[in-house]
Amino acid sequence: MKALVTGAAGFVGSSISDRLLESGYDVTGIDCFIDYYPREIKEQNLEAARANDSYTFVEQSLVDCELAGLLEGVDYVFHQAAQAGVRASWGDEFRIYSDNNVFATQRLLEAARDAGVKKVVYASSSSVYGDTDDLPMRESSATRPHSPYGVTKLAAEHLTTLYWRNFKVPTASLRYFTVYGPRQRPDMAFNRFIAAVLRDEEIQLYGDGEQSRDFTFIGDIVSANVAAARSDARGGVYNIGGGTRTTMNEVIDLIGEIIGREPKVKRLEVQKGDVKHTAADTSSAQKDFGFAPEVGIREGLTRQVDWQKERLGL
Ligand SMILES: NC(=O)c1ccc[n+]([C@@H]2O[C@H](COP(=O)([O-])OP(=O)(O)OC[C@H]3O[C@@H](n4cnc5c(N)ncnc54)[C@H](O)[C@@H]3O)[C@@H](O)[C@H]2O)c1
Repeated sequence: MKALVTGAAGFVGSSISDRLLESGYDVTGIDCFIDYYPREIKEQNLEAARANDSYTFVEQSLVDCELAGLLEGVDYVFHQAAQAGVRASWGDEFRIYSDNNVFATQRLLEAARDAGVKKVVYASSSSVYGDTDDLPMRESSATRPHSPYGVTKLAAEHLTTLYWRNFKVPTASLRYFTVYGPRQRPDMAFNRFIAAVLRDEEIQLYGDGEQSRDFTFIGDIVSANVAAARSDARGGVYNIGGGTRTTMNEVIDLIGEIIGREPKVKRLEVQKGDVKHTAADTSSAQKDFGFAPEVGIREGLTRQVDWQKERLGL
């Protein structure tokens, strides 16, 4: 089996690549190292895959690379490439979001249309739902993104469904709910909180901490991708969540317990684009490809703390 992973140097893309290689796939990874966070971190994400003979890495952008050759003989595409992050998506930066999230996805789908791949799995996001009290979020719930980032993720999701409806490109869109665990991006809350507690520095918390999220462990996200690719599901949209909702205050307490140090918290203004709560109804993913999250928040956070300690040499 042959797979193409886009955004392969990132948090999720590198984790999917490693699992596929362990399972005996031939994997090509593509990434252009956009400078949202340091290249050095992405190079570390790639280390295990690059040591494997079944892995090929291509440093190019989906915005302008030649795609037909990359898709030759590919069974599954795991499309993780994007400009991530809600808070940076306002203002002039929006162009980066529309190019890398929408235009890049359209190019990939257009190429997949001619390539005859078995499945394109698209990394969508819970941010398509926006700020709502209608919980849990269901795939049939209204989609009203609360940030420009969410608008681009939803636009690309619509494109993915359109290419199935019009050209029978087999697709599955997975709406990830906040992903965490080893390799989590340095801009994301858990990474920043854990680093602060490990260094005995202040945690910068936006809002009162009572905002809650359905946090999803990276291993469960990877399993959902593989299961969706191999299933008969075509053209569908699926929530992928961790199974419980936790507030930021609870997360901070847990991090303190795991590390064994009282966290110091500095409260800041709520950021534009941040939603109050997320919670996933994952019954469709359960029904169509047997998805069930396996790692709970305490175990997942412990694994992320261990990884960050190792990275910081502690
Ligand atoms: N991490 C989360 O909590 C989360 C939640 C919902 C959805 N998602 C989605 O999951 C995917 C992966 O997120 P992540 O957290 O791993 O982000 P990440 O930033 O770690 O990885 C994305 C990678 O894509 C690459 N990339 C961007 N544009 C590209 C292009 N035009 N061509 C080639 N490579 C390009 C970047 O260089 C980066 O390495 C994204 O699509 C994101 O929108 C993530």
